Amino acid sequence: MKNVFQEHIAQHLAEAFRAAYPGHIEAVLVALPPDVAGLEGFIYGRLEVPRDRTMGDFAFPAFSLAASLKEKPAEIARKVAAQLDPAQFSAAGPYINAVLSVSEIAAAVLPLIHGQGTAFGNQSVGEGKKIAIDYSSPNIAKPFGVGHLRSTAIGHSLYRIYEKLGYRPIGINHLGDWGTQFGKMIVAYRKWGRDDQLAKEPITYLYDLYVRFHAEEEKDPSLSEDARLWFKKLEDGDPEAVRLWTLFKEYSLTEFQRIYDILGITFDHYTGESFYNDRIEAVMDILRRAGLVTESQGAQVVELEPYGMPACLLKKADGATLYATRELAGIFYRYETFHFDRALYVVGASQQEHFKQVFKVIELLGEPYADKLVHVEFGWIKFKDQAMSTRKGNIIFLEDVIATAEEKAAKIIRDKNPGLPNLEATARMIALGAILFADLGVKKHKDVNFSWEEVLNFEGETGPYLQYTHARLSSLIRRYGRPIAEAVDFGLISSPEEKELLLHLYRFGQTVETAAERYEPNYIAEYLLELAAVFNRFYQRKDAEGKLVKIISDREDETGARMLLVAAVRSVLNEGLRLLGIPAPEEM
Ligand code: ARG
Repeated sequence: MKNVFQEHIAQHLAEAFRAAYPGHIEAVLVALPPDVAGLEGFIYGRLEVPRDRTMGDFAFPAFSLAASLKEKPAEIARKVAAQLDPAQFSAAGPYINAVLSVSEIAAAVLPLIHGQGTAFGNQSVGEGKKIAIDYSSPNIAKPFGVGHLRSTAIGHSLYRIYEKLGYRPIGINHLGDWGTQFGKMIVAYRKWGRDDQLAKEPITYLYDLYVRFHAEEEKDPSLSEDARLWFKKLEDGDPEAVRLWTLFKEYSLTEFQRIYDILGITFDHYTGESFYNDRIEAVMDILRRAGLVTESQGAQVVELEPYGMPACLLKKADGATLYATRELAGIFYRYETFHFDRALYVVGASQQEHFKQVFKVIELLGEPYADKLVHVEFGWIKFKDQAMSTRKGNIIFLEDVIATAEEKAAKIIRDKNPGLPNLEATARMIALGAILFADLGVKKHKDVNFSWEEVLNFEGETGPYLQYTHARLSSLIRRYGRPIAEAVDFGLISSPEEKELLLHLYRFGQTVETAAERYEPNYIAEYLLELAAVFNRFYQRKDAEGKLVKIISDREDETGARMLLVAAVRSVLNEGLRLLGIPAPEEM
């Protein structure tokens, strides 16, 4: 997305260059790369945003044309700046600095946001393109842990980010509902399971059985063989095996759905691993015909040694299929069904090797979409304070985390704002804000160090801080009590704080693009923290006498102009939070 202000500056500079180097400059253009749209395009691409903003809003480094013009950069800067309005342009050593007028920016940005509302920042780059996003993908009969939460948070955010750019995202939950572990579950359940107990707290109960199985397996290795046989039976459609597996799956899905409802997460498809059962043979055929399948100790594998990877396991000696086999079937299916322009797999970094292997197999098959498969990997979530109940088995249940966050958030509100209506609903919103932002507030490859004190701090770099800022903006608009008008005197918007805020608002669309390009919702998170910080500087702005400048004052024209800005900030903050999947309370 082009920045209109940057274009504007580039235009002025290009004209000045032509005036300062008549005739000559066109010769320089010949040497420019052909993808650059003339001198304007060249300048546009080289404009920098100075770190020290008192230097200007944009700076053009004259070095970039020194060789072509055969002149010293400082000399070029001086000559070119001399052609321009000194109120807006100045030479500073080898740079030409440019300053935008605040009213000019306000007149361009505010009507745009006012008119477009939350559609501000929408783009069409993705039109006609489909992007398959595999996220969340928990394992049935196991608790939904915080690791799956991170995949859920990142994946769902990417879904909304791509949607905003015009793509058609396809959200896929690749449930872990098949595999040798179900042999173990079946054996454990047949040995120790009780239907009445299962109905009470299914996931915890199944998980306890699973943990027990592993403990007993150590003492009695024959259990492993039983489990292998039962998984084989399941793959062969044995009615008892299928009955138990179906039971586990139904209970699990009900639990997962409850969590997704709390989080406000949706999927377009629930195609878990078992969905591919009847497609496995077709996959094996394709691989065999391509000459990729070899036998290794009775198992069927794709040898990947030449690529520095262990072999990709397709079938065990007993014919049982594996995670990778079902993955390959999933890739074929997704391409056939959706013709995706890209397929993302939002899965922890611990599965890096798995994805390298299966993607390599697709490449060896010569599939045209081999380079469109992306493993969007992320780091671990670590809990600092052990106050979190981990139950046994050392896994942290997401539901416990949400419940704790809700309790803590409710306590904070009761202290800060005891009269708040809908306290419970707000506490839930804050809980989600805290938990989701804990995941999205750091770059995805980094580990998250989760600490209750940090994630719930209303003044820190947190979800609740952004939510609180949103509530404050909403309260200002309520207090103003009149419709926000677009026809204001933009000349009244002139402070450096307002300028900073306007320019930051304007960067929203670019930020969404960057987040999509790098598969990184954290760019939105950081953008919003900065938006809140810049807004707070504006909110706490003092006049020349050191008095706080009130947004709502008795000067109607000034108030109207500022409220248009306030409404724009609220709108962008609201939309940014939506992209992160975080609810935006009106009051808290
Ligand atoms: N169920 C897997 C796990 O919990 C994650 C699946 C990710 N998606 C995929 N297509 N492999 O580890």
